[in-house]
Amino acid sequence: MSHVSRTRGMTVAAFRRRKSGEPLVCLTAYTTPMARLLDSVCDLLLVGDSLGMVVYGLPSTVPVTLDMMVAHGGAVVRGAKTSLVIVDLPFGSYQESPAQAFRSAARVMAETGCVGVKLEGGAPMAETIAFLVDRGVPVLGHVGLQPQSVHSYGGYGARGKVEADAERIVADARAVADAGAFAMVVEGVVEPLARRITEAVAVPTIGIGASSTCDGQILVCDDLLGLFGDFRPKFVKQYAQLASTIEAAAAAFADDVRARRFPGPEQVYAAGPAPGASEPL
Ligand code: KIV
Repeated sequence: MSHVSRTRGMTVAAFRRRKSGEPLVCLTAYTTPMARLLDSVCDLLLVGDSLGMVVYGLPSTVPVTLDMMVAHGGAVVRGAKTSLVIVDLPFGSYQESPAQAFRSAARVMAETGCVGVKLEGGAPMAETIAFLVDRGVPVLGHVGLQPQSVHSYGGYGARGKVEADAERIVADARAVADAGAFAMVVEGVVEPLARRITEAVAVPTIGIGASSTCDGQILVCDDLLGLFGDFRPKFVKQYAQLASTIEAAAAAFADDVRARRFPGPEQVYAAGPAPGASEPL
């Protein structure tokens, strides 16, 4: 259990006030070292349930458990000093009832030290969002493409191409904002719809595959870094290609080991001090 108290840096209220202001910078993070690296440039770090696919190699986010989110949430909180840390509630941990959602959110907040939770869903989740917010749980909403419902929709294609679909998603966004969410992720929607949602709600919209009309942007950090396989969705811009750097480093190590170049004299403990005296690592 983490006992980190987060009293400095970005707050939910300050994040909320950035509506229509300087764009909000958000990334996912799943580990302490990555949180340390990303913290100073981000307003928000999301411990997304995308970790199921990115870290655990699962086929979707559906099998992710609350235990996984608690373990990675605590790790990210320990690495973040100033950004707001929000942890995803995984599939099955909040849809049953507002009371179930509160139990899950309370566990995540108490055991990780994070500031609030994210949950997917529009109008059907409004009652649950209001229930959490009324009980002191800051909620980040998530409308548009909802990966936890991939089996109902039948894929990850962009939403809102048909007017009836767009109208429903705008209504979802309004319901989430009216229920008290401090901001919402808008995922995988066509540009005109992202603009409509951003104009329709009084809280910041954080886009992923939703155009620059949103109040901020989020990407999965492994996508941005070029770490996650060969598949690259259209909305991802790779700012580095670390996969090839890692492969090259591992290949160089393998070559050195096979040629007995590693370890070399610099990496070897010399004979010398009497037993009991410790040599620094
Ligand atoms: O799980 C996740 O990482 C997310 C982001 C992609 C918004 O929900």
